[in-house]
Amino acid sequence: MLGKLNHVAIVVKDVNAAAAVYRDTLGAQVSEPKAHPEHGMTVISVNLPNTSIELQQPLGADSPLSNFLLTHADGGIHHICYEVADIFASRDKLVEQGARVLGGAEPKTGPHGKLTLFLHPKDFCGTLIELEQA
Ligand code: CO
Repeated sequence: MLGKLNHVAIVVKDVNAAAAVYRDTLGAQVSEPKAHPEHGMTVISVNLPNTSIELQQPLGADSPLSNFLLTHADGGIHHICYEVADIFASRDKLVEQGARVLGGAEPKTGPHGKLTLFLHPKDFCGTLIELEQA
C-alpha cells in the first residue's frame, strides 16, 4: 500500500527561523514561505534528494497546529506523509482492518492540491500518518 515518503512535517513557532537553521546550519535547500490560510499554516519546504521536510507554522486563530505548540514549545515532528497509489482503496482497506481515519473518512484536498487523509496515531505506533494520493 505505502509508496514513497512524501514528507515529514515539523511544526515550528517561526518558520523563517527554522528555515534558516536548515539552510545555514544544515546546508539544505529551502523554499520561500507559502501561506495556506485554508489549512491554517505557512509552509517552507526543505528539499532533500529523496524527500522533503515541511516546516509548518500555525497561521490564523483557528489553526489546527496551534495546540501542538502548547505541548511542544520548541516545535517537533508532527506527522509523516506517505504516498499511496489509490487513496480510496487504501482507506477502505484500512477501515476494514479497524484503523481510524481522523476528521471523517472522506479524503480532503491538502496543501499540495492532492487528496489526503490522516490516520489516528494510536493505531500506528504513536505516529500521526498522512496518506497522499500519488
Ligand atoms: Co503533510
